[in-house]
Amino acid sequence: MTADDAVGVAELVRRCYGDTYIHEQIYDPERFFADQEAGLHISEVAVAGKSDVVGHWAYVFRGAAVAESGMTITDERYRGHGVASQMEANLHGRLVQRGVKWVMGEPVLVHTATQEIAVTRWKQGAITGIRLKSIPHIDLEGFEARTEAGRISLAVAFGPLAPMRGHDVWLSPEYAELVALVIEPTDWPRTIRTEPPQDPVLPEATVLGSTFNDAMASAEIEVETIGADLHTAVVAARDEAQAAGARFIELRIPTNEPASALAGLLDQGFSFAAFLPEMRGHADLLLLQWLDNPQVDRSTWQLLNPHIESLADAIVAQAELASERNSR
Ligand SMILES: CC(C)(COP(=O)(O)OP(=O)(O)OC[C@H]1O[C@@H](n2cnc3c(N)ncnc32)[C@H](O)[C@@H]1OP(=O)(O)O)[C@@H](O)C(=O)NCCC(=O)NCCS
Repeated sequence: MTADDAVGVAELVRRCYGDTYIHEQIYDPERFFADQEAGLHISEVAVAGKSDVVGHWAYVFRGAAVAESGMTITDERYRGHGVASQMEANLHGRLVQRGVKWVMGEPVLVHTATQEIAVTRWKQGAITGIRLKSIPHIDLEGFEARTEAGRISLAVAFGPLAPMRGHDVWLSPEYAELVALVIEPTDWPRTIRTEPPQDPVLPEATVLGSTFNDAMASAEIEVETIGADLHTAVVAARDEAQAAGARFIELRIPTNEPASALAGLLDQGFSFAAFLPEMRGHADLLLLQWLDNPQVDRSTWQLLNPHIESLADAIVAQAELASERNSR
């Protein structure tokens, strides 16, 4: 994406989303191009004729080894001709050159196009979960009538660009089956362990950090170290986020220590959201979710294949169970 292309990208986004796109920086071409030059993201564009920008796809860097896919748009007149797939393939080549090892993304559920790219075009890529009603409603041009009412749910995808080192993943039994389902179609070298540590010597205090996103009415709780007080520490952070107005809370738990097998938080309202390997050093992350209202209307979801359908069944069922157990 050149500086001139950035102007065309803003116009493309405006044609597609009006002024409602959640990535506001894209409307300011100078800033968006400067961000790219500063190494915050890389963008690929598709150009028709001399300078008509008709497609855009970006990867946002999340540390040195991870890049997150996003801001994917093909002009409606040019859809279905492989434009998005080609932009994505070009980006993967550029990411490998820059030393990025892992990619992740959030395919929408209103159509299967980006789920398909993650599952079939990313080498060893997979859908690893669904964040239920995690963001406010957005209308995707061409898909308005088919989008989930109210807040919308997004899939989570992961793909390795480098070989994954094999290791154990420690999980509480209530989440283990879901992670097993996620990794079933992959060759990711992971062994799931659920046995609690013998005579655990845990630090007294859990170390965690929380952030609240006003525009999304959501919060993230990042657990750094699991301590003996994990459950009370998480409940305190959850209550604080709820009081601030969070309607969706994501809780991130590292899975590289046996202590992670103790992190069963269904009774506190946290159900499985997704599994993201390699996200923190070499630690895989378990993503859990708390929802203010776990009733999900799945009637508009388009899911790519039976595997993702069964994952969705299990995720929605566990969200309902967690809410029930939490309100007891
Ligand atoms: C999603 C989007 C970027 C796809 O762009 P595109 O240039 O048409 O995509 P491609 O032609 O490269 O298609 C990629 C794959 O998705 C499939 N696909 C494309 N549009 C699809 C649709 N509406 N429904 C289901 N599958 C679709 C194609 O079949 C193709 O797979 P194949 O080559 O194996 O047949 C475009 O539809 C768009 O801009 N939508 C609105 C914004 C949006 O939804 N962005 C994605 C957010 S995650």
